[in-house]
Amino acid sequence: MIRLPQLLLNATFAIVAWGQSSSNASTFTNPILSKGGADPWVIRYDDWYYMTYTTNDDVTLLRSQVLTDWDSAESKVIFTPPPSLNYSTDLWAPELHHLDGAWYIIFTADPHNDSPSPEVDMYCPYNCPAVYHRMYVLEGHGSNPWSADFVYKSQLNTYDQFAIDGTYFQHASGLYHIYSCWYTQYAAWPANLCITKLENPWTVSSPFSERQIISVPSLPWEKTPYGRVENDRLSSNEGPQQLINEKTGQQFLVYSAARSDNRNYCLGLLELAPNGDPMNPSDWRKHQYPVFYQNPSESAYGVGHASFVKSPDGSEDWIVYHGMQDPNNGWSARTIRTQRFSWNEDGMPSFPKPGYGPYQDPSGQ
Ligand SMILES: *[C@@H]1O[C@H](CO)[C@@H](O)[C@H](O)[C@H]1NC(C)=O
Ligand SMILES: *[C@@H]1O[C@H](CO)[C@@H](O)[C@H](O)[C@H]1NC(C)=O
Repeated sequence: MIRLPQLLLNATFAIVAWGQSSSNASTFTNPILSKGGADPWVIRYDDWYYMTYTTNDDVTLLRSQVLTDWDSAESKVIFTPPPSLNYSTDLWAPELHHLDGAWYIIFTADPHNDSPSPEVDMYCPYNCPAVYHRMYVLEGHGSNPWSADFVYKSQLNTYDQFAIDGTYFQHASGLYHIYSCWYTQYAAWPANLCITKLENPWTVSSPFSERQIISVPSLPWEKTPYGRVENDRLSSNEGPQQLINEKTGQQFLVYSAARSDNRNYCLGLLELAPNGDPMNPSDWRKHQYPVFYQNPSESAYGVGHASFVKSPDGSEDWIVYHGMQDPNNGWSARTIRTQRFSWNEDGMPSFPKPGYGPYQDPSGQ
């Protein structure tokens, strides 16, 4: 007699649960922010996920309790640059880091949408559209990023040369800045990966003579367009991100290669030798093939600029990245996605084929 109402109650509950938003479904689909976006960075702190991404005009922080749905996330602008400064426009790829008890946002910016005069443009082999892009740092104090008050702290010294997509690399030997760089002030591609040593999160201690280039787009899949004889132009290594295999202690640097406005954008992988020195280019070994790349069978193109985060229960590894469904509309087609990844026997990360799902929710969500 007592069973029937109980059953009905369960059925009713199940229907209500089923009808809820994706935040409590057992699966999710990509993208995870339907309005679009690029260069996502996600960090988990105190039961919240925090996301930043490129908005161009400011640094916006989002927070959500679920990794797989950012449409209903809280959002706030934490920094709008004053006009007419060297960092007033094209704010790109902000990343939020917790270092030495404070919060740091490291981001790319330029003056006047980087429009060099003809006098400057003539120094570059083709032209110089990104010649004034540089790296900057905001600092915030507070018990979490949401309550922290962020203020402009400093430019990160890149010797008055092109610098984008900078990140922090934390190592037993100290803190480093790894960013996308040119060989010289007016080289205008290829874009390489450079490393310098930091005294603290906002001060570079390496003189220019000690700046090291740890990767150049030397392999065919790192160049744009693929297969052209002369193709250093617009060939890039950028979007570097630290990734550690916690089981083996292996130190990786995942980076984006080729060019972000087309289908060939992909992720490459560098590994630091055991006990290697991050400032020694020969201690970095490049994996010869991309580790994450377009999947035409699911219309997932131009996948790159990743960051890495754990599931809510800490048991799973997730990659957050951007990609395009339509490879013909360039940067505006990019949307933010996430998928679970695992690890190979040899300790290398094993990324899935990019796609739209539905995929199983992160464990503990
Ligand atoms: C999801 O729903 C179940 C009940 O079906 C509930 O126990 C759980 O707390 C919910 N999780 C979230 C994240 O809301
Ligand atoms: C602004 O950028 C230019 C070009 O890189 C540089 O020469 C100048 O010193 C910068 N100004 C400030 C205040 O840093």
